[in-house]
This record gives sequence, structure tokens and C-alpha cells, in this order.
Amino acid sequence: MNRADVSSVFVVAIDGPAGAGKSTIGRALAARLGLEYLDTGAMYRSVTVAAMRGNVDITDSEAVAALARRIEIHVGSDGVRVDGIDVTEAIRTPEVNALVSTVAANASVRAEMVQRQRAWARDRGGGVLEGRDIGSVVFPDARLKVFLTASADERAQRRALESGGDVQEIADSIRSRDRKDSERAVAPLAEADGAIVVDTTGRPVEDVLEELLGLLGVNP
Ligand code: DC
Repeated sequence: MNRADVSSVFVVAIDGPAGAGKSTIGRALAARLGLEYLDTGAMYRSVTVAAMRGNVDITDSEAVAALARRIEIHVGSDGVRVDGIDVTEAIRTPEVNALVSTVAANASVRAEMVQRQRAWARDRGGGVLEGRDIGSVVFPDARLKVFLTASADERAQRRALESGGDVQEIADSIRSRDRKDSERAVAPLAEADGAIVVDTTGRPVEDVLEELLGLLGVNP
């Protein structure tokens, strides 16, 4: 699909580091707009779980890319499945957190995921997509591009509240992942051209949501 095909669909692109509020805001915004929501990080996590379960060496980029092209990945409000097997919880383990950046740095895996993300939005006439490269690579012509941020402390606190884990360990884990995601050669985490930077530190969800609806010209 070329850019002309995808630019006609109504896409909201939400990028930013781990724990910035992308999923919470993305889901709420999609519900308000009557659009579907896609967590693209869950796709990279699914490839990681498939590689772990299939004993594919994560550092063997050819083998991981071939696996990524072969598997069927479902990411939806009813959960995440790889080839029909539920991995909703399996994709959120500390082991996956530690390995997923390596999979996400694989250029051939990214090419496959980007193609699937564009097809997902095309099939639905648009949607709210959340990730690291949605505004920069997947949908550079999105109707709205948002780069969500929050202080490192608050991002770690939020993740700790969600998972019940130790804040310090979580802070170390997200710092390491953000560094790898920002420093990789292919589609690094960065503010896309034309993206609006929104800092969610200390702000209620509803407040951020109203700002985004305002940017879209939709009455909250
Ligand atoms: O959003 P998340 O924490 O579930 O993302 C998991 C990993 O995948 C993270 O290391 C960033 C990477 N990712 C990416 O590179 N591009 C995306 N569009 C989404 C996620």
C-alpha cells in the first residue's frame, strides 16, 4: 500500500516512551471517536513470545524475521493471540520486557509489522494506533500525531501500580528499554515531524483526553 492509500483514512498516532499513558489515553480516545484501537507494542511482544516458545534465538535476525512473517497475530479488545493461542498475559512478563527491544530493533520484523499495521487501519477506515514509530513511519500523514511523555518517576510509578512490582526495578527496566528504543538504527523512538508533545505528568486522563479532542476539533 502506498502513502496515498493510507492518507485518506482517519488515523490518530500516539507515540512515546513506556508508561507515558499511551494505552490508557489511546483506548479512551478511540472509544470517544468510535474508532478501534491498536496496541502495536503487543505485536512486537507477540513475536518475542513466539520466538521464546519456538526456541528461536532472539539475536538470529533472519530466523526471527521469518517467524514474524509466518505467525498470525491478533491484537484486540478481547486479548492477544498468536496462531490462535492466548498470549495476553505471556507478553507482559519481565522476560519479554527484557527481550522485546532486541526484536523491535530487527529491521525485517519492523517492515512486516508496519505492513500489518497499515492494513489493519485500511480495513477499518482508520483507528487509533499506539507505539513508537506510528507518526514517524507507519502513518506520517495521520490526522493527529501525539508524542505523549511523563516524568521518569511517574512513568515507573504507573507501571508499578499496574503490575504490583518494585518501583525501583521497574524504573531500571523502563530506562534500559527506552534507551534501546531511542538508540536503535531503525525507526528509533523520537518525536515525529508535526507531532504535538503532550506531557501527562500529574494530569488526570480526562484532562489529557479533552486536550486531544480539542486538537482534533471534536467537542469533548
Ligand atoms: O509499548 P510496549 O512497551 O508494549 O512496547 C514493547 C516494545 O516494542 C518496546 O521495546 C518498544 C517496541 N515498539 C516499537 O519499537 N515500535 C512500536 N510501534 C511499538 C513498540
